Amino acid sequence: MIEVNELTKRYGRHPAVSGISFRVEQGGIVGFLGPNGAGKTTTLRMLTGYLPPTSGTASVAGYDVFRDSIAARRSIGYMPENVPLYGEMRVREYLNFRARIKGVTGGDVRRRVGDVLETCGLTGVRRKMIKTLSKGYRQRVGLADALVHDPGLLILDEPTNGLDPTQIRQIRELIRRLGEHHTVMISTHILSEVQMVAGRVIIIDEGRIKADDTPANLIDEMRAAGRLQVEIQGDGEVVAGALGRLNGVKKVVPDVLGGDWCRYLVWVASDGDVREQVADLAARHGWPLRSLFLHQATLEDVFVELTRKD
Ligand SMILES: Nc1ncnc2c1ncn2[C@@H]1O[C@H](COP(=O)(O)OP(=O)(O)O)[C@@H](O)[C@H]1O
Ligand SMILES: [Mg+2]
Repeated sequence: MIEVNELTKRYGRHPAVSGISFRVEQGGIVGFLGPNGAGKTTTLRMLTGYLPPTSGTASVAGYDVFRDSIAARRSIGYMPENVPLYGEMRVREYLNFRARIKGVTGGDVRRRVGDVLETCGLTGVRRKMIKTLSKGYRQRVGLADALVHDPGLLILDEPTNGLDPTQIRQIRELIRRLGEHHTVMISTHILSEVQMVAGRVIIIDEGRIKADDTPANLIDEMRAAGRLQVEIQGDGEVVAGALGRLNGVKKVVPDVLGGDWCRYLVWVASDGDVREQVADLAARHGWPLRSLFLHQATLEDVFVELTRKD
């Protein structure tokens, strides 16, 4: 659905995006993550054909987004970072207008607008003026706009920006549903968001791709993936060796506390919970155990780790 090759954008001498490449197959939700200034918006604007790259290529649904931008845009629904809406227009009127601009004609306009009003939960406010709507509803109008010409690909730039937690939850639910029938690429810096809906995550920082994988794999590969903290009394080397042989343990780092007590940091695979095994082990050997704490790694840990500036 998307194919990006060595895409680069420089503003003057400042590189905003530096030779990024990735492919997105049809279907599913891809999270595009990165700190502010990472190059997310610049990339998405190039992907939608609104910003010419300095070099490199991008295609959507087989069409080069620069040489064949009209054909490519038929497959793209784009919701920019700041949704430009006409506040004086009424919701349905605005969507009719946008549908026509995007080449929807005749009876299809009415049908498509009816569909997206329904999908985005806007039927009840279709006669309201856009400027009277809450920010959450305005974002829905932006989504409806992106959807109105029935594109296969939705590109959403920080769609939950500025929304309150309830509105965020509603938009997330909507995006999850859209992901069942569309390919969705969603940029955000709200990580919990993506961890919940995306099957794949691309992390960008300083214009370069730092990671590209499923959330589970990213968490798994991380140094901090599930970190267990255990305090056991006994011979440090023997205990560390035994902990290291437990199922699902990747690494054990002992840290002497004094008086025969030792704290062990035990790295485990993200889907593993070895707490019971550790408790059993201590009981079997008669080792006093006084603390057992599991820190579950999140996508946020991965993000912080990959985009750390030190
Ligand atoms: N029109 C522009 N002119 C000059 N620099 C820009 C312009 N737009 C973005 N930048 C710079 O490019 C970098 C990437 O910006 P952007 O793509 O907006 O990042 P993000 O969306 O990840 O926050 C930033 O350093 C930003 O300051
Ligand atoms: Mg941005």
